[in-house]
This record gives sequence, C-alpha cells and structure tokens, in this order.
Amino acid sequence: MCGIVGYIGDKKATPILIQGLTRLEYRGYDSAGIAVIENNKIEVKKDKGRVSNLTLLDGIDNLEATIGIAHTRWATHGKPSKENSHPHMDMEGLFAIVHNGIIENYNELKNDLTQKGYKFISQTDTEVIVNLINYYYNQDKNEDELKFLRAVKNACMDLKGSFALEIISNKEPEKMIVVRKDSPLVIGKGNGESYIASDIPAILSYTRDFYFLNDYEFAYLSRNNIKFYDTNLNEIKKETKAIEWDSKGAEKDGYEHFMLKEINEQPKAIRETIGTRLNNSKVSFDELSFTREYLEEINKMYIVACGTAMHAGLVSKNIFEKLCKIPVEVDIASEFRYRDPLINNKTLVIYISQSGETADTIAALKLAKAKGAKTIAITNVIGSSITREADYSIYTHAGPEIAVASTKAYTSQVTMLALIALYFAEILERADTNKINTIKEDILKLPNKAEEVLKDTSEIQEVAKRIYKERDMFFLGRGVDYAVSLEGSLKLKEISYIHSEGYASGELKHGPIALIDIGVTVIATITNKDLVEKSISNIQEVISRGAKIIVVTNQNIENKGFDTIIRIPEISTEISPVLSIIPLQLLSYYISKEKGLDVDKPRNLAKSVTVE
Ligand code: AGP
Repeated sequence: MCGIVGYIGDKKATPILIQGLTRLEYRGYDSAGIAVIENNKIEVKKDKGRVSNLTLLDGIDNLEATIGIAHTRWATHGKPSKENSHPHMDMEGLFAIVHNGIIENYNELKNDLTQKGYKFISQTDTEVIVNLINYYYNQDKNEDELKFLRAVKNACMDLKGSFALEIISNKEPEKMIVVRKDSPLVIGKGNGESYIASDIPAILSYTRDFYFLNDYEFAYLSRNNIKFYDTNLNEIKKETKAIEWDSKGAEKDGYEHFMLKEINEQPKAIRETIGTRLNNSKVSFDELSFTREYLEEINKMYIVACGTAMHAGLVSKNIFEKLCKIPVEVDIASEFRYRDPLINNKTLVIYISQSGETADTIAALKLAKAKGAKTIAITNVIGSSITREADYSIYTHAGPEIAVASTKAYTSQVTMLALIALYFAEILERADTNKINTIKEDILKLPNKAEEVLKDTSEIQEVAKRIYKERDMFFLGRGVDYAVSLEGSLKLKEISYIHSEGYASGELKHGPIALIDIGVTVIATITNKDLVEKSISNIQEVISRGAKIIVVTNQNIENKGFDTIIRIPEISTEISPVLSIIPLQLLSYYISKEKGLDVDKPRNLAKSVTVE
C-alpha cells in the first residue's frame, strides 16, 4: 500500500513524478506529495486527497528541478491529513523522505529521539525514519562521499518492519538513495537518468530495463550513474532485467475503466498464460524439475494466498485432488502463518499472488520454507518479492493489472494451476489419460470461449440496472461453482459496497436461508452436469421464499421461474470457473458503474496489501 515514485536525470521532475503517482494511485489515495531539490534547497508540495489535487497546489508548476521523490498514501499511522502526507522532512530540513511500509518499533525510536531533543509534527512512523537519518548524519564526523549513505544505512539497521524508501538531501543535492526491505520498489534505467517506482507499470513508458533490489541493498543514484551497496557499504554489482510488458497495458486504451479493460483482456491473458506449455506431447514446465519419485513422496499440498488469489486456489483443489490424488488444503495466508500448520519435507506449498508483494503471503512462504517444504510461487509480476523467496517461480502472463478488483489475474491463475495439476498428473500417472487429454484440449479452447462470453454484455447490463439498488445478495454454487460464488461475492462487495455472501448451495438450509425474503437476489452458478438436479432443487427452495434468481450456466437448463438465465459455453467442470466468473465480474462492474462509484479505486482498498 502507498505508492512511491522518484526521478533523477536532466528532465523536469515534477510532471514525471505526478504521472507516476497517477499510475500508482490504485495503491492508495488518501494524500499525495512530492519533494524536489531546486537551487540546492528541498521544496515540498503535499496535501490530503487525490493526486489530481497536487496539480492545483500553488507554485507546483514552476518547479524546474530535475531530481525528486513522490508519494501517494494509504494511511496506516495517522489519519489522512496534510501533516501526515509524505514526503516528510527531518526537524532541521536537511532530508526529505517517502516511505511505503510500516515501522513496527517506531514508538520506541520516537521516544528515543524525543529524549535527544527531536520534535515531530506528524503522527507517522516515516517522520521518525527521517529524523533518525538526521541523527546519524550529525553524529558522523567524517566528511567523505559516503556520509549521506552511511546515515541512511545506520538508520535502516535500527528499523523493524517493512520499508521502501527514497531519500534526498540538500547536503547532497545531486544524489538520491533508495532502499527496500519487504516492500516493493524497482529502479528503471534510462539514458543518463533513472526512474524509481513501487511497481513496473508506473514507469514502463520510460524504460524497459529494470534493477530489482534485494532486502537491505542500497542504491546510491546520481544523474547518470547508480552504485549499489550492501549493509557493510561494500559496492555490489547488479544487472538490469528487460521487461517485455507492453506499456499500453498500463493505459486505459479507450476503456472507461481499467477494470473493464482488464475483464476484456482475459482471452489474451489466458492465451499468454498457456503460452507454449501445452503442445502435442506432455505439459511442460521448464521452471519445475520435479521427478516422479519426488511427486510420489508428497503427502500433502497446501495452496496459500489472500483474497481473489485464494479463491483461485479453492477452485484448483478439485483438479489437483482428482488428477494427482494428493490431499490439498487451501488456506488464507494470514491464518496459515499463525496456525502452526503441519509441514515437513514431504509437503509442497503453492503460493499465489498477482502482485508478488502481499505481506501475509510472503510471510507464509518463509514459514513453510523454514519447516523444510518445497515452495512454488505463482505471480504476475516479474522480479516481485515473492520470486526472491520461493524455491520455484512461475509467471502468469496476464500483463499489468491496475484495477484494485482483480479479474484477469484470477482467470490466469486458475488456468496456470490447472496446467500445473496436469503436469503433475502426467508424471504421476494416477489419473485416467482420457480425462487428462480432455482437460488439455479444453484449456486450449478457453481463450476463444472467453471471447464468446464477452461478445454481448447487454443482458448483464440490463440485470445490473434492475438490481443495483439492492442491499444484500447471495451467490450459490456447488463444487467449483461454490468457489466461484465466493469470488463473485468478493467482486460485488469490493466495488459496489453491496453486502453479499457466497454459499455452498447445500449449506443454505443450515442457517442462511433465514435471510432469504421476498425480492432478495440470489445468483447461482451451475457448471457441473452431475450436480444440476441438486443445484436446481436448492434454487427452488429460495424461489419459494420469494427470491429473484439469476442463473449462470453452461448446462442445458430450462428456465424454471428464474429472473434471468445467462448462458456460457460448455467446458470441463474443473476449468469452468475461468468462464463462469466473467459474467459475475461484469455484473459487479456494471452495478458499481450504475451506482456512480469509483470502480477502479474502491474505498478503503489498495491493490497490493504490503502490510499485515
Ligand atoms: C481482489 O479483487 C482483491 N483486491 C484482493 O483480494 C487481492 O486478490 C488480494 O489482496 C491478494 O493480492 P495478490 O494477488 O497481489 O497477493
């Protein structure tokens, strides 16, 4: 949460910083600010509210500086206000800093500094860091070229928690320092200039060459040079990685919202995720060098993630158990990490994270690794933190996902998990080959079938117009359709603020049916032909209590008193969620739009949750 941007080069910094912040606004939008060095002096412009407010601040257009740092905030310590906005300066005004993360021991450090005479004007943990830098700088009697860096390094060694930091100083007006620990940050290399950001898409229009910092690596930037240092301040060498994403991926490209664009990009994202893994022979995963002996020894698999990514895991439990005959538990990362799960060297844990930066998921990964399990990370972001921790990393190739509500990342994750299940199944030979081959053929059909689902959305728009004023809704399903109902419900909640619940259809009569009353909308997904009859009788139970029913199905079901029936193409049940979620994503989108809400940036939410 929070987005940071930086620039050092020979161009005017302010427009670059503001454009970067605009692209990062999905990470937080409580307040925004920039700091630049002009005539050897730090100039700070900041306020509460969105990035667009920044452009209205007095004098911001006149800043000619070519070095600067910037921040868009998702409040953790201290309410959204001008004082709590970043950048923050130290008491003497020598340094300016922006920070993404949380400093857990900031109270302790603040008390210490207060006793030394430091004064604070904000409630933030960040103001503590910048004063700590000031403290170490003033303590240091050496006047060499690393003095600024030493002060930053010493301060960082005192911090507990997570941080991505950019620091400038009027003592070194031609320099910038960036460092990270457990919070995302990338450095884009230009021609005689450098761009810094919390994620790649924010600066993709300037460069494709990126440096990725490991925890506690310090980058000391001047206009046309970057030096990297470890914690002993020994210089280290780092190579850039070329990023192949299309910079258009980070633009709306004619769509009204990123979410709608990303929903429509799903056929392409699924196609890219499949890539060349499926051909006439066996499914291939060059990243995974698993032997039959190893796979046969696995006694348990966990799939661990948060939110939508966890829902992708829930869908996939079914295919892994069916084709690989390995018991699979799906867990929420924030629960898994604190429940002392049973793990040993025969456990395999798959972690799913679009951003690769979710704090709970990364902590859950470290835990399993420490207990001897093998770990696989599935992520969409190259070089993200999770890839530095996992034993194996597999990339979905969904392209940048900007809208807070995840759509194309989910369908790519479900597709990727199905491919991994097939890869294991072909090695293990525990499942019927015909079944494996049918799913393989069907996976190849997914992109075209997703296109079919997206072709005509008029019916879904009509439904949205009819139900957007409702206060409560229910999503029902059995088997993988239950997992889809949870994801459909999450989508609706996060962008429309309508209360909704996802339930296993058979569970309804054990309590929640008490909430069904005349006019309540129930959305049921039915994609498993073996469960059609049972699902229909559950629907009849709510119809007889007055509910309005919307059915999403790929089965030849007659309309038996439903309000609407949305038909989608048939496909193997195991991978049907890739198609059945699309109408639910669209429904949430059009409901949110009907309500006039900020679809891409729903209240209180940030795209990547980099704090616990
Ligand atoms: C999805 O719409 C959400 N915004 C959220 O649940 C998200 O999936 C979750 O925070 C996990 O993010 P990650 O995939 O980047 O780890």
